Amino acid sequence: MIFSRFSFLLLSLGALSLNCKTSTSQPPPPQVVYLKDVAKFPIGASVSPTLLKNNALYRQVAGREYTSLTCENAMKMRPLHPEATRYDWTDADAIVQFAKERGIRMHGHTLLWHQSVPDWMTNFQGDTPAWEALLKDHIQTVVRHYQGQVASWDVVNEAFNDDGTLRNSLWRQKLGDDYLARCFQYAREADQQVLLFYNDYGQEYAPKKMQAILDLVADFKKRNIPIDGLGLQLHINVNTSDANIQNLFQKAAATGLKLHVSELDVSVNPKGEATVMYTDELKEKQATRYELIFKTFKALPAAQQHGLTTWNIGDADTWLRSFYKRQDFPLLFDDQYQPKAVYGRLVKVLK
Ligand code: XIL
Repeated sequence: MIFSRFSFLLLSLGALSLNCKTSTSQPPPPQVVYLKDVAKFPIGASVSPTLLKNNALYRQVAGREYTSLTCENAMKMRPLHPEATRYDWTDADAIVQFAKERGIRMHGHTLLWHQSVPDWMTNFQGDTPAWEALLKDHIQTVVRHYQGQVASWDVVNEAFNDDGTLRNSLWRQKLGDDYLARCFQYAREADQQVLLFYNDYGQEYAPKKMQAILDLVADFKKRNIPIDGLGLQLHINVNTSDANIQNLFQKAAATGLKLHVSELDVSVNPKGEATVMYTDELKEKQATRYELIFKTFKALPAAQQHGLTTWNIGDADTWLRSFYKRQDFPLLFDDQYQPKAVYGRLVKVLK
């Protein structure tokens, strides 16, 4: 009995030392590195207040990966200014608070966007001065509310058509072509420190739109209209050409303004097929698009690197699914918020 107990003890010790041996000879666990640990410029994502509130995993990833956050929708006119005399700050404030608690910078998106006009405004009846006052009031109320809490604003979003003409938005109809410049002036009047951006998509495939934006910048500079940066949305896809992306960065950087890759995602189903197999080939193409953008952004002068922001966090949250009603897998995290292979490749690029 005693003997058997003793031998059991020996056996156990042996097993213990064996365990120790195997564990020390195993490679160390892979170092846990987050995007913000390796990025030498602000790295961000847009976020949803509902997910931040209700999904612990989402909140965890949002808090640990990024140094910059954008509200995906919460700061747009429709949710923020639901009635002429009422603002609803609840959701946007909650995101700003989340960021503040973690020392994360906020980028403001967006003061003016033709796709987020509240009904009361669409139906507003008034003469030109009344429309001007309404616009100025919205811009200045929002900019002042977030003064010192938001580092930068997309003042106007998507004001140009792909052919380079000005989009015939409500404000252009009511206030004429130069409303754009006045928006920037109103924002600057309200906050002398905040950085002011013009943000748009499609500049990588629509050269006339890109040129119109470059012309706008030149015109603003000539007239002393304040502008600090350009937002390149970069909702691209697996087939977007390298040359187009490089050309856009080169032209935009030549303005000397700060650049923000403001809404990056890489669609693997741009034609909206009913089903899509997320094959290794598609993953590879997607990863090379991401790598090109990260590398090109990394090569910019530091003073021009405002940040690189993906449009939400995980594939489950992508607007491409909800807005276009299609299957897609465009982001760096999968549906379960696990980093995809492309994430690891980007960490290498950033290092
Ligand atoms: C999108 C949001 O992601 C969606 O949730 C919303 O339904 C519509 O707007 N360009 C922009 C963003 O500037 O504001 C848009 O965001 C995507 C295209």
